[in-house]
Amino acid sequence: MSISAETPGLVVEQAARRRTFAIISHPDAGKTTLTEKFLLYGGAVVEAGAVKARAGRRAARSDWMEMEQERGISISSTVLQFEYRDHVVNLLDTPGHRDFSEDTYRVLSAADAAVMVLDVAKGIESQTLKLFEVCRARNIPIITFLNKYDRPGRDPLELLDEIESQINLRPTPVTWPVGIPGDFRGVIDRRDSSFVKFSRTARGTRASAEEIVDPERAAHEEGEAYQAAREGIQLLDEVGAVYDRESFLAGSSSPLFVGSALTNFGVRHLLEAILEMAPAPSARADVSGMPRAIDSAFSGFVFKIQANIDRFHRDHLAFVRVCSGRFERGMVATHGGSGKPFATKYATSMFGAERETIDEAYPGDVVGLVNASDLRIGDTLYVGEPVVFPPIPTFAPELFATVRPRDTSRFKQFRSGLQQLEREGVVQVLRDPDGDPVPMVAAVGRMQFEVFSHRLQNEFGAEVDLRETTYKMARRTDPATAQELRRLGGVKVLSRSDGELLALFENPYWLARLESDHPDWRLDHILVEPAVA
Ligand code: G4P
Repeated sequence: MSISAETPGLVVEQAARRRTFAIISHPDAGKTTLTEKFLLYGGAVVEAGAVKARAGRRAARSDWMEMEQERGISISSTVLQFEYRDHVVNLLDTPGHRDFSEDTYRVLSAADAAVMVLDVAKGIESQTLKLFEVCRARNIPIITFLNKYDRPGRDPLELLDEIESQINLRPTPVTWPVGIPGDFRGVIDRRDSSFVKFSRTARGTRASAEEIVDPERAAHEEGEAYQAAREGIQLLDEVGAVYDRESFLAGSSSPLFVGSALTNFGVRHLLEAILEMAPAPSARADVSGMPRAIDSAFSGFVFKIQANIDRFHRDHLAFVRVCSGRFERGMVATHGGSGKPFATKYATSMFGAERETIDEAYPGDVVGLVNASDLRIGDTLYVGEPVVFPPIPTFAPELFATVRPRDTSRFKQFRSGLQQLEREGVVQVLRDPDGDPVPMVAAVGRMQFEVFSHRLQNEFGAEVDLRETTYKMARRTDPATAQELRRLGGVKVLSRSDGELLALFENPYWLARLESDHPDWRLDHILVEPAVA
């Protein structure tokens, strides 16, 4: 392996071309449609619809995880890479509702920016909110896309208020709609006051040709709707809702675009905003807060593990986000956890579930390493100067289930599987130190339980009896508060392998009452917390 003299310059140049982001949205807001349209504009698919069609084909011939076949769902998160206007765009897919899991959150730790898609009829919804909170915890810059404007919906000014008041993010519209939702005429681009006329393509299977109309003609043709939009813009100017790079990059304001992904309208604006506004990969801070320069030797961290994709090969795919330097397939990196050399002969990129071997990658890119069974979520890989990146956080679980082996003679297998899957971050494992020996597994999405049971049975030979409990939320607590809580009903205090004590509650109202009656008790809200070591 050789790193040529011009590599540092090349790395800086390549990193500057890259934009790595994720889409956050509630199910049905239009994430899949928008993803397809991005690929369509990026030339990665010739006709939109190909992603779904491809997914269908894949499901038909997929030989991994029968569960996926049986249920027709995709457990794999995908990383899509395409070029657009001399940039390399990495779109990290955040698994959706049915396969929502901690992975959905973890993916955000590898993104430099997020696009928040809102349905104009619905505004901020629960899943958007959860994902948004994870972005906020990392100060990830967010671009907002107000989708489905071709359909009836809510007043956009009201939605701006909702975004600001509910999530304390200041929207700064860059395009503003002419016409009400359902009677969409187009958008005014506030940067140059041009009017882009809305037209329906045939469900948007091809990139739409845009008609840009000068303001005078638009005022004449669109009449009152145009006048109302101009007044709206004047109001936005007066209240200072204007794009501001600094507050956007700090995660406190959000440039907003209006469109209709289904008909391709607004997709170009959004894609260009990602290139122009979203940050390129920059030096990532290590555990001590020291940034690792983008042009230092290769480094990256694992943000997701997918095991047993192919059950005939028992493989183990680790997704690594490149943070610095140039990754070359075949290079030998050092595994931060063990200090051991790690060969990267089998490096792949993912497009849906289809793998392609890749030979090189730059900061911002994601590399899939096959047969990486020694790697764990959060692990660092590096070449040259050692570096350790901060661990990936764990997240507040919302589902809790007791788990025991069906066949007690398989207890040893059960125990080692439990340990392994906990280390891989498939579920969190909670135990009662002085009581019930039956462990509890905790997750943010039901899919995690399904993967957990499936893998215990298939890889460790321990079929399990998993029973969901009525606990709904967890708070971090301390031994003194735990003692008080143990005297009450409807609450259970358990410990996790990192030593944290978690109090589980069944009833949110009762928890709220305890919080107000006992302000001295420690009942910390968990959103994002340091990872289990
Ligand atoms: P998701 O990934 O966020 O869950 O949403 P998805 O893109 O699957 O979109 C959910 C539904 O909303 C789809 O309809 C999709 O066609 C529709 N949709 C997305 N964007 C727009 C838009 O801009 N305008 C309108 N009118 N509809 C939009 P579906 O009937 O559930 O699926 P399909 O039969 O169209 O595939």
